[in-house]
Amino acid sequence: ASKEADRLIEMHKIASNFYHHLLLNTVEGENALSYLKKRGFSRDLIEKYGIGWSLPNWDSLSLLLQRNGFGLEEAEKAGLVILRENGDGAFDRFRGRVMFPLHDDHGKVIGFSGRIIDDQDEPKYLNSPETPIFNKGKLLYNLHRARVPIRKNGKIILFEGFMDVIAASKSGIEHAVATMGTSLTPAHIGKIKRLANHVVVSTDGDSAGWEAAKRYSEMLKNEGLQTDIAVLPEGLDPDEYINKFGPEDFAEKIIGKPHSFLAFIMMYARRNKNFKFENDLLQYIHEVLEHLVGQSSPVERDLYIRQLSEETKISEEAILQQFRKME
Ligand code: UTP
Ligand code: MN
Ligand code: MN
Ligand code: MN
Ligand code: MN
Repeated sequence: ASKEADRLIEMHKIASNFYHHLLLNTVEGENALSYLKKRGFSRDLIEKYGIGWSLPNWDSLSLLLQRNGFGLEEAEKAGLVILRENGDGAFDRFRGRVMFPLHDDHGKVIGFSGRIIDDQDEPKYLNSPETPIFNKGKLLYNLHRARVPIRKNGKIILFEGFMDVIAASKSGIEHAVATMGTSLTPAHIGKIKRLANHVVVSTDGDSAGWEAAKRYSEMLKNEGLQTDIAVLPEGLDPDEYINKFGPEDFAEKIIGKPHSFLAFIMMYARRNKNFKFENDLLQYIHEVLEHLVGQSSPVERDLYIRQLSEETKISEEAILQQFRKME
C-alpha cells in the first residue's frame, strides 16, 4: 500500500479504537450500549465486531486525530471529518451514532457505517464516502473473518445488511458476508467466486429483499455459481427472525432449508398474485415457464410443470403444450 493509504488506515485504527472505547467504558456510551443490549448484542459480539459509539460533539475525533499528528485535510480524505466551507476548521462526519467498522479483505478498518439510535430526521445508516481505501461497491462485510469458514463449508451465505451477518453468528453461521445495501456488483461476485461455487442468498422478507434476492440470484447463476435462496417470512429480516424465533431455529429452518432457484422463482412469481383472477393465473404460469425454458433439466421440467398444474388446476398437458411453444 502507498504511504497515503497507510496514513488513512492508521487514522481508521485510531478512530475505531476511540469509538469502541467510548461505547464500552464511558458514561457517554451507556445509552448506545443499552440500545445494543436490547437488540440482542452481547459484550462478546460487540468485541468481536469492534462496534463503537461516536460522541454527539462536533469535533471529538478531529481533535484526537490532530493530537496524533494528522492534518484535517488528510482526515477529510479518510472520510472521517468534513472541512467547513468557510475554511474555519472541520467537524466529525460521524456524530452520535453506533459505529460499525468496515474492514478490507485483510482485516484492516477502512471505513464505517454509523447507525442512529433514536428516531431522527436523518438516514438510518451513514456510511463512509468513497475514499482511496474505501469502495462500497467492492466491500463484502465480514469477508476477512468468513474466508476460512467459507472454505470449510464449501458455500457462502449472502445477506443484504451487516446486522444480519452479526446476528447470524449467534446461530454459529460464520461463513456469511453482506453487501452494503441492495446492490451486488461484478467486483463482489469476483470475490465470491474465488472462495466458493455455492451461494445461499438470504435477503429481507420485504419487497426490496425479494427484488434483491431475484437480482442477486440471477447474477450469481449467470456466473455459473450454484445459487439457493433462503426465504424469510413476510416482514422479517434475518436479524429480526433470530431475535423472534432464536438462533437455532434460523440455522435449521431458514438457512438449513433454502429453496432452489426455480422454487424461489415460483414463490417470487406468486407473490402479490391472486389466482381468483384469471390474468394473475395466466401471468403466473407464463412467468414460471419463461424461467423453465432453456434452463432446466427434463427432470426439473417434469417436477415444476406438475407443481404448476397442482397449484393452478390447469392440466399438465395444457401447460406442457404451452411450454413447448415457448421453447
Ligand atoms: P436495512 O434497512 O435492511 O438495514 O438495510 P438492517 O440491516 O435491517 O438494519 P437495522 O436492523 O434496521 O439496524 C440493509 C443495508 O442497507 C444499507 C446498510 O448497509 C444496511 O446494512 N443502508 C440501509 C444504508 O446504507 N443506509 C440506510 O439508511 C439504510
Ligand atoms: Mn432491508
Ligand atoms: Mn421456506
Ligand atoms: Mn434489514
Ligand atoms: Mn434489521
